[in-house]
Amino acid sequence: MATTQQPHSQPLTAFARDVLQGLSATPKMLPSKYFYDEQGDKLFQQIMRMPEYYLTDCELEIFENHKEGILQAFGHRRFQLLELGAGDGMKTKVLLRHFLERGAGFKYQPIDISRNVLLELEESLRAELPELDVKSLEGDYFQVLHELRGGVQPKVVFFLGANIGNYTLERAADFLRSIAEALNPGDLLFLGVDLKKAPEVILNAYNDPAGITAAFNLNLLRRMNRELGANFELNDFKHWETYNPISGEAKSYLVSLKSQHVFIKALNRPFHFEAWEAIEVELSRKYSLSELETLAKKTGFAVRQHFFDKKKYFVDSLWRVE
Ligand code: AVI
Repeated sequence: MATTQQPHSQPLTAFARDVLQGLSATPKMLPSKYFYDEQGDKLFQQIMRMPEYYLTDCELEIFENHKEGILQAFGHRRFQLLELGAGDGMKTKVLLRHFLERGAGFKYQPIDISRNVLLELEESLRAELPELDVKSLEGDYFQVLHELRGGVQPKVVFFLGANIGNYTLERAADFLRSIAEALNPGDLLFLGVDLKKAPEVILNAYNDPAGITAAFNLNLLRRMNRELGANFELNDFKHWETYNPISGEAKSYLVSLKSQHVFIKALNRPFHFEAWEAIEVELSRKYSLSELETLAKKTGFAVRQHFFDKKKYFVDSLWRVE
């Protein structure tokens, strides 16, 4: 298979390859996973603290109000708790602390591709929950889950924070199916999902008046400037958000304010933007409960229990591998 080559015949990085593919497509798109460089991580922390971004508060409220019910629903005497993409573990710690207080027998295994994220998380857990049995696992989610396959201990997999919403329905189904295949019948998945609700509530969460979400999205252009030698002028693009209440898709775009060319050194070529041409940069899909049940069924799970916040904006849904 032919590989794409850089000017001096060096192979392209994954980022450069994805940018080439996304900006050559019609309509243009870029994967939102590239939001999260150092600056992007900081902006996302700020987003999670914004009053308009209800998702974090709702999930925290669910954990605080239902921690005992959640533990009871796991129903195992000893279990392995695996968390996919644990981040700083701020919300998970509420549950971990409660499980420890209740004398639950479990080992906590955060899985992340980033060694730094895991080191920081382990350090904070050692300080805050010294009695916790932690063994972090570095690597790709599925590779790690496959390596753990066949163990005798029941597993509970956490995938929180509405991260599933950043996948298209098709990719979400593939992802969930792969998790089911890497687990044993009877193992559990605890999935954080943002629910369909009044459209204005969703739009405000991704279109805050302080412009933090706009800065978060525009940071992707800054990252291309820095890492790929691009010359995006950030003032020539604006953040635009849409929400489709039928599909449940909230989408973020960066819209070109004028006809312009941007040169990307790492790709050794210019890209043309027409005036008002948009790049799709993020999908944040919202689900109804019936859509979630269908998704569970078609990916090898059965829904065991839903845990809601008081407004029913968000659900942490417990699924069992069939
Ligand atoms: C990480 N993810 C679940 C967030 C979301 O809500 O889609 C990312 C985000 N984008 C803008 N605000 C927050």
